Amino acid sequence: MALCRTLGLLKPDITANPVFLRQVLAQIHDHPTLGIVHQKAVQWSAQDAQSFYAEHRGKFFYQRLCDYMTSGPFMALILEGPEAIRNWRNLIGPTHPIRARLSQPHTLRAQFGLTDTRNSFHGSDSIDTALREIKFFFPELQL
Ligand code: PPS
Repeated sequence: MALCRTLGLLKPDITANPVFLRQVLAQIHDHPTLGIVHQKAVQWSAQDAQSFYAEHRGKFFYQRLCDYMTSGPFMALILEGPEAIRNWRNLIGPTHPIRARLSQPHTLRAQFGLTDTRNSFHGSDSIDTALREIKFFFPELQL
């Protein structure tokens, strides 16, 4: 099966907490097929957040999502493996942590997410999105 790459974010509340960060990285490390091939720490300006989340402009959560993502540094990861896009999204779980705790308690958002806004993780949702998002965070890489 072909290797695939996806973009993952460990959002500010995870990155700010060394214990959480260690636990999350250990769970990724223990995943049977996903591996981290690049990572970097990022601190966004308001403009960066507005650009990355442009498709959500006008939605009720847009401003608080941008505020959250500019509240502190966070980690951008390129994850690689067969079906990496789907496997990373399965590992992080549903967008809303409270629902994740009920339906998929083993997922990262169920374990670490706090609210609909502070949901701790991001994962690309398609091959096209993954390519665009990887370029957004890692423009220096030849893809
Ligand atoms: S949508 O409306 O279906 O496109 O939303 P979704 O794909 O589930 O999520 C898109 C991003 O918006 C974040 N989100 C929210 N933030 C704050 N409050 C609420 N209620 C909310 N709902 C969705 C969600 O986490 C997605 O951001 P990322 O960075 O991809 O997690």
